[in-house]
Amino acid sequence: MVPHPVLANRYACPEERPGYVKQLFDHGAEHYDPVVGWGFFGTGNLYRKTAQSRHGLKPGMQLLDVACGTGLMAVAAREVLGGDDTITCVEPSDGMLAVARKKLKARFIQSGAESMPLDDNAFDFLTVGYALRHFADLEATFREFHRVLKPGGRVLILEATRPAGKIGSALFKLYFGIVYPFFARLLTRSHKAEEMMVYFWETMDTCVRPESVVAAFQAAGFTEARRIPLMGIFSEYTAVKA
Ligand SMILES: C[S@@+](CC[C@H](N)C(=O)[O-])C[C@H]1O[C@@H](n2cnc3c(N)ncnc32)[C@H](O)[C@@H]1O
Repeated sequence: MVPHPVLANRYACPEERPGYVKQLFDHGAEHYDPVVGWGFFGTGNLYRKTAQSRHGLKPGMQLLDVACGTGLMAVAAREVLGGDDTITCVEPSDGMLAVARKKLKARFIQSGAESMPLDDNAFDFLTVGYALRHFADLEATFREFHRVLKPGGRVLILEATRPAGKIGSALFKLYFGIVYPFFARLLTRSHKAEEMMVYFWETMDTCVRPESVVAAFQAAGFTEARRIPLMGIFSEYTAVKA
């Protein structure tokens, strides 16, 4: 199950999508932290940390952060774990990895989520922050998550989700589709930062609905798959390897 259809204004076919997304984040990497910090009103670290704690991340656990980007999930997890020596980060973009490496002493692996050079049954907890929309195929990627988690291991995916209702959806579009990219450009003076935020919006707008994400977890063999909605626009997806 693809998380969103081909965006013909960006790339021509599914095979071209990873290359397009990689160059987008390579170029946007230096702007990512300030733009995300501003766009979420400085709440990102606290939210990432409390979400990980609420869903059971504890000191001593082996954590895999997939699509780590500049390391925002892993930096928040370090505060919960009490250190970064049990953190492994997976990320395909050189630019994003370069920023993350400056912040963390974690193990870094350059890879997409769909097929990761990692052992079976290796992790207690797996996180993904705001990257679900970039995976090639949800069911296949979730099968890969299932493979690398230990029995009893949990996956937690944070995502922004377009509200179902008309008014909520219009406000969501106004903020993420227009206001946020405009200020990203103003703040950074970078066309690439603006393009990154417009692409965020386009993938959120066309993303499969939450019930399909939960169904993909179930199809990949996970139990206890569910979505916890937050403030009408955020989703916490969680599932357990039996
Ligand atoms: C919006 S950033 C999220 C970064 C970080 N997780 C956070 O919470 O801020 C999305 C990240 O997903 C990465 N990404 C894109 N395609 C991916 C793929 N197929 N597998 C793994 N990561 C991918 C991008 O390079 C980018 O760093």
